[in-house]
Amino acid sequence: MPERDLVIRNLTKRFAAAGGDVVAVDSVSFQVRATEFFTMLGPSGCGKTTTLRMIAGLESASAGSIVFAGRDFTSVPAQQRNIGMVFQSYALFPHLTIFENVAYGLRLRRIPAAELKPRIEKILDLLQLGALAGRHPADLSGGQQQRVSIARALVYDPGMLLLDEPLANLDAKLRVLMREEIRRIQRRLGIMSLYVTHDQEEAMSVSDRLAVFNLGRLMQLGTPQEVYAAPASLFVADFIGKANFFPARLAGRVGAGARVALAGGAEIATPRAMPLGAEEAPRIPAGCDAMLMVRPAAIGLDARAGDVSCRIGRVQFLGGIIRYTATADAALGEVTIDAQRPVDGVGEGAAAWLRLAAADAIVYLAAGRA
Ligand SMILES: Nc1ncnc2c1ncn2[C@@H]1O[C@H](COP(=O)(O)OP(=O)(O)O)[C@@H](O)[C@H]1O
Ligand SMILES: [Mg+2]
Repeated sequence: MPERDLVIRNLTKRFAAAGGDVVAVDSVSFQVRATEFFTMLGPSGCGKTTTLRMIAGLESASAGSIVFAGRDFTSVPAQQRNIGMVFQSYALFPHLTIFENVAYGLRLRRIPAAELKPRIEKILDLLQLGALAGRHPADLSGGQQQRVSIARALVYDPGMLLLDEPLANLDAKLRVLMREEIRRIQRRLGIMSLYVTHDQEEAMSVSDRLAVFNLGRLMQLGTPQEVYAAPASLFVADFIGKANFFPARLAGRVGAGARVALAGGAEIATPRAMPLGAEEAPRIPAGCDAMLMVRPAAIGLDARAGDVSCRIGRVQFLGGIIRYTATADAALGEVTIDAQRPVDGVGEGAAAWLRLAAADAIVYLAAGRA
């Protein structure tokens, strides 16, 4: 139902700073569907928190608009937006029980006592905290404390849930458990959720769609699969998953794809070619600079023959995969190869060949010529 969507248009935030204004969020536009789990992903300082705070009403917008369920939020005070927020720091009251921590906001809103108890019990049960209602925060683990802060955000029955790096203080194993827990609750309640993280694996695993940010700008928006399979820029290719880049020169066009020549002579034809600038890919002439992107799993290793010769540096056993790190000849740089099983005759220090699976590679084209 589009009428329940969140619609962000040209949202901009400038902070005054000593050396001139900082543009923390630079004309960002996106739309979040009513029951969607939507993630803003990007490196530290790219404007994720500032965007979330403007949506929550904790920060004013310098320009642009925020419309939620048909209502213009841009100048609605934070407390009237009916938004639940969860932060990295749990910010629980140490002297109050779990029950009272969750009750606090409801009491402030003068919810009648008779209504209070069933509402809190329901939300504590949903978060599997029912048995802990009488305890104090100090008696809870980090994961349990974060559950309480989620319960506190949800007990108002908010129209949307905003989560700013909620798992950053937890250890790796608990982070994985908690992200699944958050996803389960979000699905159960069908609540629009905006999630902020710098962790691409976390973003990929929980999101319906994600928006990749860099330097205050929205770089790409799509499902995790779309963004992983077809990153629209070198930045996104590098940030989402692991990527190998090989400098190349455009040799010719093949339908929607391209044939490129790598330094050292190898020619690779890929089915996909994307422009890096505003120029349309088909208009970029042969001879221009290109960058070939190949995921680690799309490179094979062979002791005898292949596209590019290399020397193996490290071989790491990472459980399900074996990760080879190699230095490609002809100054093509460091390469990461993920194999399902060890490759015969290719150990640390060995000379070997890379086979680039062209069907899974993408060529990025720059209009310029080096
Ligand atoms: N209150 C503020 N005053 C000045 N600059 C700020 C303020 N808040 C954030 N910034 C700057 O805005 C940019 C984006 O910050 P932030 O939204 O916190 O990024 P993220 O959450 O993606 O790490 C950064 O360069 C940060 O230093
Ligand atoms: Mg932040």
